[in-house]
Amino acid sequence: MKLFIDSANVVDIKKAYRVGVLSGVTTNPSLVAKEGVKFEDRIEEILKLVPKVESVSAEVTPDAETAEEMIAQAEELIKINNYDKNITIKLPMTLDGLEACRYLADKGIKTNVTLIFTVNQALLAARAGATYVSPFLGRLDDISEDGVQLVVKIAELFRIHNLDAQIIAASVRHPDHVTRVAMAGAHIATVPFSVIEQISKHPLTDQGLDKFAADWKKAVKG
Ligand code: E4P
Repeated sequence: MKLFIDSANVVDIKKAYRVGVLSGVTTNPSLVAKEGVKFEDRIEEILKLVPKVESVSAEVTPDAETAEEMIAQAEELIKINNYDKNITIKLPMTLDGLEACRYLADKGIKTNVTLIFTVNQALLAARAGATYVSPFLGRLDDISEDGVQLVVKIAELFRIHNLDAQIIAASVRHPDHVTRVAMAGAHIATVPFSVIEQISKHPLTDQGLDKFAADWKKAVKG
């Protein structure tokens, strides 16, 4: 399973990229709004920061409600990256979003259909030519449903029917989500930087490092 960072914060994106574990970036209108910057400028900045990743998702804004409006925004967004391959247009899971997805997919533009909460929505997105589908685990858990189970089922569906859309497990809140979606067959988990930090740590790693340091100091001092 690959890891994307779910953030529009350049400091966090830089830190994760430097570690060398990133295959992509996802953003959404809430993440960009939190930064208080112009949407297109931030997308351009992110694209420059992470030249070697497979995908940077830029989501059409909530003002774009019809397929035509989404396509018009997508065309502006792909110009930012000079038609490079790593920009991915993120579209909402609506009938208009699917129509825009099919149009862009037919033009060879990568797409990510977001806000997926059922297996049927994932099936529709895959059939509309989505490169990525994004089921939101944490938000399902928030309403007492099992987010990971949704990923399990979508992975099974895509296997049975040979659908090539990649599953991005999104709305990932903690390390256990990461392990469970990896084992469920998600192709990607998109996670905040805090989760990347958390999954790098274990108390026994820290204890081990402290012991190595103490033993080393003793031996050097004699
Ligand atoms: C994914 O593409 C979304 O940006 C994201 O994972 C949403 O997560 P949240 O439910 O924590 O806002």
